[in-house]
Amino acid sequence: MSKLWAGRTSGEVSSIADDFNSSIRFDCKLYKQDITGSMAHAAMLGAQGIISQAEAGQLIDGLQGILSDLESGALEFDFGCEDIHMFVEQVLTQRLGDVGKKLHTARSRNDQVALDLRMYLKDQIDEITALVKDVLGAIVAQAENNKGVIMPGYTHLQRAQPILFSHHLMAYAMMLLRDLDRLGDCRKRMNVCPIGSCALAGTTYPTDRRFEARKLGFDDIARNSIDGVSDRDFCVELMSAVSILMMHLIILWASWEFKFIELSDAYTTGSSIMPQKKNPDMAELVRGKTGRVYGDLMGLLTTLKGLPLAYNKDMQEDKEAVFDAVDTVKMCLKVFAPMLSTMTVKPETMKKAAQGGFINATDLADYLVKKGMPFRSAYKISGQIVARCIADGCVLETLPLETYRSYSELFDNDLYHDIDLTACVEKRISEGGTSAASVDAQIAYVKEQLGGGNV
Ligand code: ARG
Repeated sequence: MSKLWAGRTSGEVSSIADDFNSSIRFDCKLYKQDITGSMAHAAMLGAQGIISQAEAGQLIDGLQGILSDLESGALEFDFGCEDIHMFVEQVLTQRLGDVGKKLHTARSRNDQVALDLRMYLKDQIDEITALVKDVLGAIVAQAENNKGVIMPGYTHLQRAQPILFSHHLMAYAMMLLRDLDRLGDCRKRMNVCPIGSCALAGTTYPTDRRFEARKLGFDDIARNSIDGVSDRDFCVELMSAVSILMMHLIILWASWEFKFIELSDAYTTGSSIMPQKKNPDMAELVRGKTGRVYGDLMGLLTTLKGLPLAYNKDMQEDKEAVFDAVDTVKMCLKVFAPMLSTMTVKPETMKKAAQGGFINATDLADYLVKKGMPFRSAYKISGQIVARCIADGCVLETLPLETYRSYSELFDNDLYHDIDLTACVEKRISEGGTSAASVDAQIAYVKEQLGGGNV
């Protein structure tokens, strides 16, 4: 079939080139935004007297009909069309005749696609935001239901100091709050309307760009028409934000070693050969899919690198990458929230792990400091005592007082209280630290951020 853009060329494109060039298989996702955008455009053309009000009305009704028919299934996409924009215009013209051909006045597919994609991604950001809030809700609930549970905190993947499990959970909550912030920030910059930029230089028609921007819910218009049709930084920004979000999901997962938690059967799988297995496939897939999202981001960055102004067809490659990234992150969040809220916490396993690793050695040093010894000397003696325990096969809690006193006269019976794990946790009263009061303040902060509409 000859193209809508036939004119300068015959429009007779080889079928191989046609398939290669076509984007409708993936940009059909934008049908709703494309049609809504076109309705606002028709209204603007009518309001400005560029076409008659009657024609604008016909176009809007025709577009509404296409939207309803696509949604009811009465109309199907024609994958022979080059892209979603051509498809809608073609159907409109088939249905309305010559009036349909007026829709594309004072517009180009270049500003049209930039508009559609922004509208689509704004909605996606809203969906992702709601899903992140679900994950945050699950984290807060687990933290509140497991107050007082002690686990080892790690550095270098070695047991370092005792912490509250709820403190550990709040670390993820803070990360996810920043993710929400990044998504909101990205949405703010995306919320600028490019329509009316036309091919690149603006138009000779007396359009009203702000009319369209307002009608479509944008805060502002793109102030430079060349920029309006050229940059895809809003896609890159969103993909960066969701890449960081994916990174946080796997950090969260990677910390659950040694059976500190047990996932519900609904979010695990069995092995086809080893009967004892309960595999955390969902969590592993989230980890695996993180690579895919990073790949989408790197792919688009590479596509955009060094492109000259203004529109280039290279930019058609933006859509599959950004669609894949947002679809993937949504899937991951959808499985993560219920997986977290149904997991069982194992306080005994955590406590045991916390007891075995001399994670109260810092507190032993702090004890000596409290009794007047300089920290560096206290650190050295505590290290020697840990080495002694390892040699004797005991832990700090069971080493006799005489042995302690052979290292320093400052040791007394009250040392056993100071190295008790609960006391170690409770002494960490600094803001943001692991004491119960401090963690309660963190939980309250997260809830306030979530509830107060700050994120
Ligand atoms: N399908 C194209 C894209 O996704 C739409 C814009 C086409 N513009 C053009 N001048 N060929 O980028």
